[in-house]
Amino acid sequence: MIYLPLEYNNSMRKKIAAGNWKMNTTPDEGKLLVKNIISGSPSLKEHQEVYFFPPFTHIGYIAEVVGKPNFYTGAQNCSPFEKGAYTGEISTSMLKAVAATHVIIGHSERRSLFSESYESLQHKSSTVVNSGMTLVFCCGETLAERESKNQYKIVQEQLERSLLHLNKDEMQQVVVAYEPVWAIGTGKTASPAEAQDMHAFIRSLIKENYDETIAMQTSILYGGSVNAANAKELFSQPDIDGGLVGGASLKAEEFIEIIKALP
Ligand code: 13P
Repeated sequence: MIYLPLEYNNSMRKKIAAGNWKMNTTPDEGKLLVKNIISGSPSLKEHQEVYFFPPFTHIGYIAEVVGKPNFYTGAQNCSPFEKGAYTGEISTSMLKAVAATHVIIGHSERRSLFSESYESLQHKSSTVVNSGMTLVFCCGETLAERESKNQYKIVQEQLERSLLHLNKDEMQQVVVAYEPVWAIGTGKTASPAEAQDMHAFIRSLIKENYDETIAMQTSILYGGSVNAANAKELFSQPDIDGGLVGGASLKAEEFIEIIKALP
């Protein structure tokens, strides 16, 4: 099925390059990486943003070196709970105390390797927006789901069960990341047309559940083997508002080119 982009002036949306470092780098390596990226990046335009998502242990250090307009630091996960007897968990208030402003929720690695359920992700989505932070909510189908032509159904289910319970005001603190599982860390990127089609579908779901204004304002990032060579074409699709980048965000030169590819 082909989903046509909504008619809008997409210059009103934020264009974002986000680096999800996963479980990589020491704090010192992370600091050096950010320094190199920031010194090699152009000044961002008002509608452009860059997010770094280091491991929990480095967020405070990284936030300290990030002081350049429109560059932000965030966490790859958080607890749905505020505080208490939850061994090993990190709350949104702890994250905010070290200057994190964004949180990724629902990454496919957390869904598959750490058994995160729809219910838990729904709780976490609410917790993040209620804390005042920006939620980067991930969705995406597996290869088997795409091969059985269930990619729209599964992405719709992921959004409906863990994100779209948020109200209109809360939705303004949300960035969606479409990351097809088969494209993550595999070197296999969704074609710009395949990614655009799913992004238009996600935007149409947001419109159905809220309204056209919210749908037009929500940035939808593509993730899955984004690199310096393919970023420009992906980001030039009408419903692709940037990328959530894994491997290539760990190499300063590569991530700088991805930042430069933002429209
Ligand atoms: P890669 O860019 O390494 O494929 O990872 C994508 C990703 O999972 C970002 O969250």
